[in-house]
Amino acid sequence: MFKRHRRALMEQMKDAVAVFFAARETLRNNDVHFEYRQGSDFFHLTGFEEPEAVLVLAPQREKGDQTFLFLRQRDPEREVWDGKRLGVEAAPAALGVDKAFPIEELAAKLPGLLVGANRLYHHLGECAEDDAVILAAVAAAKRFRKRGDDTPGDLLDPAELLHEHRLLKSPAAIERMQRAATLTARGHRLGMAVTRPGLFEYQLQAAMEYSWRVGGARREAYPSIVGSGPNACVLHYRENNRRLEPGDLVLVDAGCEFDYHASDVTRTWPVNGRFSDPQRAIYEVVLASQLAAIEHCRAGHPFDAVHQVAVRVLTEGMCDLGLLQGPVKDRIEDEGYKRYYMHRTGHWLGMDVHDVGRYYLRGTSRALEPGMVLTVEPGIYIAPDDEQAPEAFRGIGVRIEDDVLVTEGEPVVLTHEAPKTVDEIEAVIGSADLPR
Ligand code: GLY
Ligand code: MN
Ligand code: MN
Repeated sequence: MFKRHRRALMEQMKDAVAVFFAARETLRNNDVHFEYRQGSDFFHLTGFEEPEAVLVLAPQREKGDQTFLFLRQRDPEREVWDGKRLGVEAAPAALGVDKAFPIEELAAKLPGLLVGANRLYHHLGECAEDDAVILAAVAAAKRFRKRGDDTPGDLLDPAELLHEHRLLKSPAAIERMQRAATLTARGHRLGMAVTRPGLFEYQLQAAMEYSWRVGGARREAYPSIVGSGPNACVLHYRENNRRLEPGDLVLVDAGCEFDYHASDVTRTWPVNGRFSDPQRAIYEVVLASQLAAIEHCRAGHPFDAVHQVAVRVLTEGMCDLGLLQGPVKDRIEDEGYKRYYMHRTGHWLGMDVHDVGRYYLRGTSRALEPGMVLTVEPGIYIAPDDEQAPEAFRGIGVRIEDDVLVTEGEPVVLTHEAPKTVDEIEAVIGSADLPR
């Protein structure tokens, strides 16, 4: 699979050379690093999870001498502390690259690999240290070449080619995304089931993340958001340390990553198991808007149409409920709805939760194509101190988010197992104990 990804990219690169760096480790606090996760592009092209590695693709060279991996050498002493390394000798057979070298030889060997190519693909501006390696190698290649040899003069962004591949999901990627989606949806069901007043937000988070780990997911796709009461109105709330109160809604935006593929789901539910009338009124508007938007996730429809339909249904609901004064058309035009709906309705989803791929082509919103996956996530957030809003609605925050695969036919909601209607949700809340 990874070899196929490399080959597809190399065919499009023609006589250019491409260099990809593994993600770097980041210090968290004294001697402790943040959990390491390989960069998505690097993993997509190698399947290799170790840091301190560099992939070079050089299709301008002869067959059998085109793909190179620089990586850490075996080191029995370090491996006792930090775990096993693949090592240089094993890398070609294990990863299907033509040649492997110790990472210490990168500066000496990279210039030679650039010779013969007049264009270079590199993600400029993501990491200053990586950029410095590239610039030094280009300079050295110019000194090193023989008369008549090309060296890279044009620096290109690999996103142009690679991210278009990643945007159109292969069957293997869709299978992984479905696994992530199913685990995530079941985690939300468990979250609802264990919810009761008195629990802390982080305890609800723990139950959901536990179920994903038990189900085979190694990590979250992004830090889980568990916002109860007024915290539901903080879009990227992450403190997760408030105690759930009876009468609160809790908004949970959380998803797992399965085999480097993300899920991104939001559900909002009542802590005591029953939506109050104002909570239900807002919830039903958001749900109607989400269902209408999902209907628009069809091949040929512009990506922006999904947002526009969500905005229309939300604005109608806001006017009906007295949050806004109509007419609806005017509130859409003057963007009055943004007081309560201030974000977009979705984004690409894939290896990254906010996945790669362009949203606009030549200035227009691109058409959806089979194999694309996007989130659909409308919401309404009424700040607790919003004196313009009817009092009953203040402090209510609702978002509903699913992951949707575009196909030749009907949109496929990968996360359909997460309870979503008022009745489905109310039937689940409080029905299980916290795992112990
Ligand atoms: N979880 C981040 C988002 O919904 O975009
Ligand atoms: Mn989300
Ligand atoms: Mn999202």
